[in-house]
Amino acid sequence: MNPVCFLTPDPEDEDYHLLWRDTLAHLVAALARAGIGSDARGWTEAGDLTGYGLVMPLLVWGYHRACARWIDHVTAWEREGVDLRNPANALRWNADKSYLGMLAERGAPVVPTIYVDRMTEAALEDAAARFGVDRLVAKPRVSATAWRTIRWARGGSLEGGPEGAAMIQPYLPAIESEGEVSLIHIGGNLSHAIRKRPRAGDFRVQPEYDGILTPHDPALDEIHAARRILAAIDGDLLYARVDLVRDDAVAPVLMELELVEPDLSLEFDPGKGALFAEAVAGELTKRQRNTLRHAQGERRLDDLPLENRGSPSPRSR
Ligand SMILES: Nc1ncnc2c1ncn2[C@@H]1O[C@H](COP(=O)(O)OP(=O)(O)O)[C@@H](O)[C@H]1O
Ligand SMILES: [Mg+2]
Repeated sequence: MNPVCFLTPDPEDEDYHLLWRDTLAHLVAALARAGIGSDARGWTEAGDLTGYGLVMPLLVWGYHRACARWIDHVTAWEREGVDLRNPANALRWNADKSYLGMLAERGAPVVPTIYVDRMTEAALEDAAARFGVDRLVAKPRVSATAWRTIRWARGGSLEGGPEGAAMIQPYLPAIESEGEVSLIHIGGNLSHAIRKRPRAGDFRVQPEYDGILTPHDPALDEIHAARRILAAIDGDLLYARVDLVRDDAVAPVLMELELVEPDLSLEFDPGKGALFAEAVAGELTKRQRNTLRHAQGERRLDDLPLENRGSPSPRSR
């Protein structure tokens, strides 16, 4: 068994059948260059993960369509003591995009968002009036790869839009020209960035819709925005992808903070994932130290005379 395990899509999920293999290859190669071996297991049939030094769900593509099951798995792994990174609480928190509201309350720059239990024409009309705009985007609160995400203007169709709990935002036209930029952070530090633009006529930047990905040298205001966003959350994050788009005042605002299964786009990293491998090595060392400390603690306990071990003796009960 290798020290690291990457969780991959549900093997039954035809949609993600082969697409993830290239992404996995980049992650595996980055670790291999640092002498760290890794395995890959489908998240729905991962089996016992407790023997791994580090388990990363970086490829659980499609989890959003089985979110309750995903959350149950995360909680079960946490209970079993699996060394998950990002940690279970971050994974649970990040699965529902209502986290944008919490970040906004904490002063982070976020795309203005209205949350509704169900998307209806009346809800869209109301949102357009409240935002004072003509065009909107409606998308599910639990989603990925622009699933069930639509652009809407008065009189437009709701076809293909979210079916359950939804969020509504002003449509930010900068997505068509400048696109969305992703600032990839490893261990809290900026590693590298990419720009994602939609193909002509579309607004979805994902490669699944023929979006165009290029390396990106992040602007200072983007770096600052990402810092403010990450500073607004607590937690020990191994990786984070901050997706920013420019609003009508040309300021970078958060579209999505991806802490579950971000594509780290290591193929665009000038360092070829060296920072990622270093952070993983650091996590493994931390774990080894803890195990050692634990073992030494137990040995010291064994040296103590029985009455000093602090366990309740029959007399004290
Ligand atoms: N408010 C918006 N304005 C313009 N484009 C948007 C907006 N919201 C979403 N999009 C487009 O839809 C895509 C998917 O939305 P996003 O919030 O990133 O969810 P996910 O990537 O999880 O599906 C974005 O990458 C972007 O191309
Ligand atoms: Mg996105």
